[in-house]
Amino acid sequence: MKASPKKRPSFEPESTFRLTEPPNTNWRYGDSYMGSLGAEDWAKDEEQGWKTFDTSQMTPREIYPLMISGIIPRPIAFVSSLSPAGVPNLAPFSYFSMVSHHPPLVSISFLHPRHKEKDTSENIRATKAFTVNIISEPFVANANFTSIDAPADVDEWIGSGLTKEPSTIVKSPRVKESAFSMECELYHLHDLCPPGSSEVTGTLILGHIRMLHVRKAVLSEKGIVKANNLRPVSRLGGKMYGRLGDAFELPRLSWEKEKDVVNELQKKP
Ligand SMILES: Cc1cc2nc3c(=O)[nH]c(=O)nc-3n(C[C@H](O)[C@H](O)[C@H](O)COP(=O)(O)O)c2cc1C
Repeated sequence: MKASPKKRPSFEPESTFRLTEPPNTNWRYGDSYMGSLGAEDWAKDEEQGWKTFDTSQMTPREIYPLMISGIIPRPIAFVSSLSPAGVPNLAPFSYFSMVSHHPPLVSISFLHPRHKEKDTSENIRATKAFTVNIISEPFVANANFTSIDAPADVDEWIGSGLTKEPSTIVKSPRVKESAFSMECELYHLHDLCPPGSSEVTGTLILGHIRMLHVRKAVLSEKGIVKANNLRPVSRLGGKMYGRLGDAFELPRLSWEKEKDVVNELQKKP
């Protein structure tokens, strides 16, 4: 594996997560964003205008770098599955999201470049079960290795240096090094075709989370996962991964409490 270019600063092993104030502590309903810290640069950039892309006039190869660099940061599902013959498979997927907590569902989508389905989606289609593991900073290189385009009969676990931990309900193991793992059963599968075409170019799956395994060290007394202990990595554009930086809180607003002020604003010309 190639080392990162020398001119870059070394990885900082301390957690980079901290809570700060929000960019604008004085914002009131109807105000523009100009009172925010950083607003002037943002407004200046607006003067350059927009470039608009019509996806119907673009190839998938042109759309891909724009979408993966603009829709960031993406969480990563580190998926362990088994082939019908029992061959273990492990690979990362960042077209991944939480869909619902009632029922507890996650979504993952797989692209089939060159008409070859990903081993992971083939396995899930056949066995209807898998685990999703959250990747933390210390083992991101191990996880990245598993995206290797190995043939279906190769067990990526071996080269990854990661440890299989038996699951409790599904047959595919979870990643022992992960602090947050989900045992999932297939809830829904939908093959994706470009509009007006019957060519299957990808597969979207929804997984029903049956079991959640959380390392005690990342769990607060209130039953919340502590971000600075989980230290999750995200996917950015190109080959870039991201880590958590500063976070801030903003209030959740209640119509009952705020309606008089908001209604008053509606009356203004
Ligand atoms: C961080 C990361 C995220 C990825 N996300 C996706 C994704 O969302 N969908 C996809 O089809 N491939 C994605 N890939 C590529 C797959 O991991 C890669 O094709 C892998 O070989 C699939 O393994 P499999 O055929 O054993 O399932 C990603 C790769 C990396 C490194």
